Amino acid sequence: MKNKFYITTPIYYPSGKFHIGTAYTTVLADTLKRYYTLRGNDCYLLTGTDEHGQKIEQVAEKNGMTPKEYVDFMAEEAKKLWKKMDIQYDDYIQTTESRHMQIVQKIFKKFQEQGDIYKGVYEGLYCVPCETYFTETQLVDGKCPDCGREVVKMKEEAYFFNMKKYVDRLLKYYDEHPDFIKPEFRKNEMINNFIKPGLEDLCVTRTSFDWGIKVPGDEKHVIYVWLDALTNYLTALGYLSDDDTLFKECWPADIQIVGKDIARFHLIYWPIFLMALDLPLPKTILVHNWIMMKDGKMSKSKGNVIYPETLIDRYGLDATRYFLLREMPVAQDGYFSPEAFVERYNFDLCNDLSNLLNRTVSMVNKYFEGKVPEYRGKINEVDEDLEKACDVQIEKFEKAISDLEISSSLQEIWTLISRTNKYIDETSPWALAKEERKEELESCMYHLIENLRKISICLIPFMPETSKNILNQIGIKDENLKTWDSLKSYDSIKDAKVIEKGEPIFMRLKLEEEVEYIKQEMKK
Ligand code: MSP
Repeated sequence: MKNKFYITTPIYYPSGKFHIGTAYTTVLADTLKRYYTLRGNDCYLLTGTDEHGQKIEQVAEKNGMTPKEYVDFMAEEAKKLWKKMDIQYDDYIQTTESRHMQIVQKIFKKFQEQGDIYKGVYEGLYCVPCETYFTETQLVDGKCPDCGREVVKMKEEAYFFNMKKYVDRLLKYYDEHPDFIKPEFRKNEMINNFIKPGLEDLCVTRTSFDWGIKVPGDEKHVIYVWLDALTNYLTALGYLSDDDTLFKECWPADIQIVGKDIARFHLIYWPIFLMALDLPLPKTILVHNWIMMKDGKMSKSKGNVIYPETLIDRYGLDATRYFLLREMPVAQDGYFSPEAFVERYNFDLCNDLSNLLNRTVSMVNKYFEGKVPEYRGKINEVDEDLEKACDVQIEKFEKAISDLEISSSLQEIWTLISRTNKYIDETSPWALAKEERKEELESCMYHLIENLRKISICLIPFMPETSKNILNQIGIKDENLKTWDSLKSYDSIKDAKVIEKGEPIFMRLKLEEEVEYIKQEMKK
């Protein structure tokens, strides 16, 4: 019985140190896992590394290691990074593990027996670093459309997957399942760019290199990385080896997250492989855009690569997670610049969020010796207006995140933060204190604490530590007041006491100094 909410990241090529772009996909997946857990689901998150292919073979040699030594080393590096980023993955799959390789061979055989895979000759334009063949029309200025490098003419005996057989079924599926592809424009892109011009059968083996899973019974061929790579989402669950446990609980996947460059593989070939295996398709494949730099893609040679460690070590994990999730609208490219990072930190985290918490905690201390007053209802229009605004924002937040519009969902929380800051100006608690308007002052403090509690619950998936910290500072200990359901109530805080001396959760950064620091780190 399927009872788990299954989320996957792509499996990364371990061909170099993981930069902020790869971290983004993983943080997104982790955030969704935390959100769906908060909503009461039992989530299962899979990540891993895609370890076969010519490029890996070459990088390993350059590093003086065997390919297996190299990929194992890189898998450890990835795990260290995910630990540092507090990524709550449940399993890590390496495609060089035998639990994966054996099943890929079984799947290949099954496809052969069904007549989906046949032997032929492949002739085409090949990009070695991308390990991909392209047709003449796909090239950009005669070069690889993905990486811009030269392509070479190649001819080899190879196995092909009969994609044409499944195209009509795939189009019908797209049509009948509006939630299958998000955002929706990616579906039209697939249809117009790849399916309408005539979908070619996919070459699924290579003889030009050795580092891969061998074709059973024809060992000079290795299974080409995409058939190998895509099936990780199944093999990690025990598909065809132990189908009755995890596989049954998780499949079909609920959300599979992929970057735009690998959309074609996940939106066309992957569903067709699944149809050929007679398996249900994932419920949603979320395609996100890229993090770009002002001068284009991140690349070592341009000296514009930013690594997550640089930001986490100096500004903390939550600030880094916040920037990535806030600055990257899923459906458009986002831009990283040191200025944008520091400004988001100063404006959103420090001015808006940290100050709201700080002012609230110090006023509750000053006026009520730290004790949060009881709820007195909506005692005037200002309270009524604030409560209404809070409900509206939470509704908008929920809608945005369930549409997988992550950056917008954070924007909705920030609108609530600004609204709450405005409430302080509207009520002028210092004046209420001076004029000894106790009831209004109590109500004002209660509303501020209640809004902060709700803000922290919404922040759990994005900034888990910050959320805990806020709840701790405002004295919310009862676990029932940290749940999604508790967002509905406005009157449930009782006997809370704020901490005596609240530390600011984010301190203002010196713009020029920090911009310079990040720039220097990027040059290293
Ligand atoms: N190994 C394949 C995926 C196989 S999945 C069955 C692969 N690996 S990758 O390491 O090159 O890329 C992994 C993911 O990182 C992709 O989703 C890709 O889009 C994403 N990103 C790589 N650079 C990125 C940015 N600059 N910004 C955002 N995401 C980026 O492709």
